[in-house]
Amino acid sequence: MKNFSDNRYRAVVRVPGTSANCGPGFDCLGVAATIYNYLDLTLLKSNRIVVESSGDGADKIPRGKRNLTWQAVKKLLDVTGHADEFRGAIIRTKNTVPVSRGLGSSSAAIVAGLVAANEILGSPLNRNDLLTLATDIEGHPDNVAPALFGGFTVSVMDAGKVQTFSFMPRIKLKLIVSVPEFELSTRLARKVLPKNVSMRDAVFNVSRASMLIAALVEGREDLLPIAFGDALHQPYRKKLVPGMTQVFDAAVDAGALGAAISGAGSCLIAFTTAKSGLEEKISAAMVDAFQAHGVRSKALILNVDKRGAEILNA
Ligand code: HSE
Repeated sequence: MKNFSDNRYRAVVRVPGTSANCGPGFDCLGVAATIYNYLDLTLLKSNRIVVESSGDGADKIPRGKRNLTWQAVKKLLDVTGHADEFRGAIIRTKNTVPVSRGLGSSSAAIVAGLVAANEILGSPLNRNDLLTLATDIEGHPDNVAPALFGGFTVSVMDAGKVQTFSFMPRIKLKLIVSVPEFELSTRLARKVLPKNVSMRDAVFNVSRASMLIAALVEGREDLLPIAFGDALHQPYRKKLVPGMTQVFDAAVDAGALGAAISGAGSCLIAFTTAKSGLEEKISAAMVDAFQAHGVRSKALILNVDKRGAEILNA
């Protein structure tokens, strides 16, 4: 067990926000972004759970046992056989990832709890084990994988285990995110999806998701404009995000390579290269197009995070 001189059972971690799906990769592709949440975790022998939050959405973060970071910590304690030793925690968070907007705030909370608790216990689990635990809690791997590993991630669930391939694209990308004022619950955004899809729509997405990864890995910018399309989820979620299609069109007209719903929304994300210098123009076009549909939004211009979850007090 790690022995900190003053804070024996304490770890501080930083976890990036993430954007899942990236257009065609429903529930399997994701990307980590340079926007971060911080967790300062202390495990307690007593059964007190103290939650102190600051930053984005601080007033909405549940206290006590319903807190997502605590649930992740508790799961790790159970799995590693430390649940009798540590029965509570002090959870201090500072968040910049917007809550309930499709930028991975819940995944960041889960990954932060798992990584910090694992560090305090002397790293009994490796990152792949943590990925499987995080996916169990979150339900799908496409946000938790990039939050843990950084970069772009391709995740496959197979027989209860998750395998992830994480890479940095050979093209330096800029991620332009429009963050609307309204929240969207993932549960609602999943409820509007059909149970079955046509072969035609499946092929539409499989071909684009494969092309997207190949183009990013090989640095083929010329192939990206055809790679961000989706027929599996966005057409059904369009009614939940006023102006979605028009914001996508505005981004592409302003020079973006493509645009998509970020995760389950409500944020929309556009992709361009750093060398294009078009990020300000694209973000202004997206904000204006949202505004034309009565939606106020703010723009974030981010890079791809390559580090994933990091221990800051190692
Ligand atoms: N792949 C998920 C969805 C991401 O689109 O519902 C949201 O967490």
